[in-house]
Amino acid sequence: MTIPTPTSEGLAGLAGAVPAGVPDEVTLARLAGEFFAALPTGFAGPLASSLPGASRAPAPEIIPPGNVGPSLTAAAPVAPVRAESVPIDHAAAAGRPGAPVLGVPEAYAAALPTFSPPASPPPLLSTAAPSTPFYFLGEAGAFQSAPQAFGAAPTAENRIVPQSFGLPGEAELHQILAELGGDRRSAQAPQSGAAPGHFYFLDTAGVQTQDASVPAAPASAHPAFDVQAVRRDFPILQERVNGRQLIWLDNAATTHKPQSVIDRLAYFYQHENSNIHRAAHELAARATDAYEGARSKVARFIGASSTEEIIFVRGATEGINLIAKTWGWQNVGEGDEIIVSNLEHHANIVPWQQLAAAKGAKLKVIPVDDTGQVLLDEYRKLLTERTRIVSVTQVSNALGTVVPVKEIVALAHRAGAVAVVDGAQSVSHMRVNVQEIDADFFVFSGHKVFAPTGIGAVYGKRAILEDMPPWQGGGNMIADVTFEKTIYHAPPTRFEAGTGNIADAVGLGAAIDYVERIGMENIARYEHDLLVYTTRALLSVPGLKLIGTARDKASVSSFVLDGYRPEEVGRALNEEGIAVRSGHHCAQPILRRFGQEATVRPSLAFYNTCDEIDTLVAVLHRLARGKGRIGR
Ligand code: ALA
Repeated sequence: MTIPTPTSEGLAGLAGAVPAGVPDEVTLARLAGEFFAALPTGFAGPLASSLPGASRAPAPEIIPPGNVGPSLTAAAPVAPVRAESVPIDHAAAAGRPGAPVLGVPEAYAAALPTFSPPASPPPLLSTAAPSTPFYFLGEAGAFQSAPQAFGAAPTAENRIVPQSFGLPGEAELHQILAELGGDRRSAQAPQSGAAPGHFYFLDTAGVQTQDASVPAAPASAHPAFDVQAVRRDFPILQERVNGRQLIWLDNAATTHKPQSVIDRLAYFYQHENSNIHRAAHELAARATDAYEGARSKVARFIGASSTEEIIFVRGATEGINLIAKTWGWQNVGEGDEIIVSNLEHHANIVPWQQLAAAKGAKLKVIPVDDTGQVLLDEYRKLLTERTRIVSVTQVSNALGTVVPVKEIVALAHRAGAVAVVDGAQSVSHMRVNVQEIDADFFVFSGHKVFAPTGIGAVYGKRAILEDMPPWQGGGNMIADVTFEKTIYHAPPTRFEAGTGNIADAVGLGAAIDYVERIGMENIARYEHDLLVYTTRALLSVPGLKLIGTARDKASVSSFVLDGYRPEEVGRALNEEGIAVRSGHHCAQPILRRFGQEATVRPSLAFYNTCDEIDTLVAVLHRLARGKGRIGR
């Protein structure tokens, strides 16, 4: 066999970078080529793509930081972030020295409403426990670290339960948001057509929420929520970025993984790894049990009536595409109508646009009010006998609006349409029950709920799934194949062609175990208080404007700051180790509704703290004082 000689073009840029005495890249490529050519298979080797005739990947696109919208000038490249690992100091991180070890809340009420803007940016953060008075103190040793607890059934004793910060509750947040939005009415009265009450936030202990899918947590029955104990379960939170301890406020983009999820993945590959469903050997049985066990956990987590209603996919985007390309393709025709809301992520717009274009159908959009909440009365007017699908998000990834999906689904059904709910931004912040919502389809992504990337789920009502054609063909999804005909499996396998993401599905199961052990109601309660704190703190920054002030919000605080482009703010925050998303958040239509191409978007998870918000806000104050002085 002739060994082709690598061209200088294929290895361009590498010459000259090789230290003396080390073979250069061309020599290495030649030696490697000789080696691989000598193999019986004729395997071309890893450098094959740089050899003549090989197809070459396009040059990597250089993406400006911040995912900036098109009307903004491209930002200058950001210097690479130097990240370093530091050993986890468990003793230092364990809680405030001298703090009482008990389940009694501290007096947060006095401190929280009087957030005072810091005079100067805070000093470097250390890995030591923060000194803010706003943390909860847990029972000592109440929470076994996840690795130790792996496989053990959670007990009532080791559940972590939050205490409220002591605010009056959601009324306070509504008041703040209503004042902000210039809509004082919404502080007193729910939006016309919306159920009076709550889609997310929990009331004080013992008070039942209006939405039965969000049961109230009897907070007083539990020990205090120890956010530091939770944080110790997430090793990446000890990471340092630019010399500062990482502050992760980009949870709407992705969440971090607890050690129990990381360990579960390792355990799978060490003890269970196999393809599923296809063999009579031990590891196939273990892998199948683990994978199907994860399906059961997903079904329970979102309140499905059976595991057969849960299809594993890569994430919410793939889930919506699956629905559009199966149910949509089968049931939408010329002149039919599809309704989405103005709040949607691109993933809940583009697949429907594609379907509408292919079928000659129409895409209609539910408008939002000036706070960022959908206008139910306008929605009612959009529904016609031609409406086939209504697809809406449960929580806006760009504004944080909690959408009244139950009402939207009910109205869709009344018009004879099916209803799809995008739960990508809701499942990590609130209890979801798909039967309570009565959604026909519900999708979510695992990586937004502390699970690995590349795994998510579609829920579909069983009767609907049974009538749906498959969307991909291949192994696993078939019951019998001849050249004349293929008989498909029943759902959900019918929709899972090929080898799926088995390990990460198992990881998703572990993530669900983790959040359920803490309790979704407890997470919701803690995050609600933290969002109130964040809103109040952000408002103390001169020139900061919140985008999205609906009375029901979860996790997200989108804002713009006078004198700065959002990506400049994002870059300044990154220099202090703070991760937020700056850009259009894959939701350009809703940002444009508010006259923006981009915003800065801190987004919370239950491992965030008031101390982190203090640091964020201190940097914003510094920027506000030196208006427009950075990044120019
Ligand atoms: N959808 C994710 C976000 O909102 C990526 O950032």
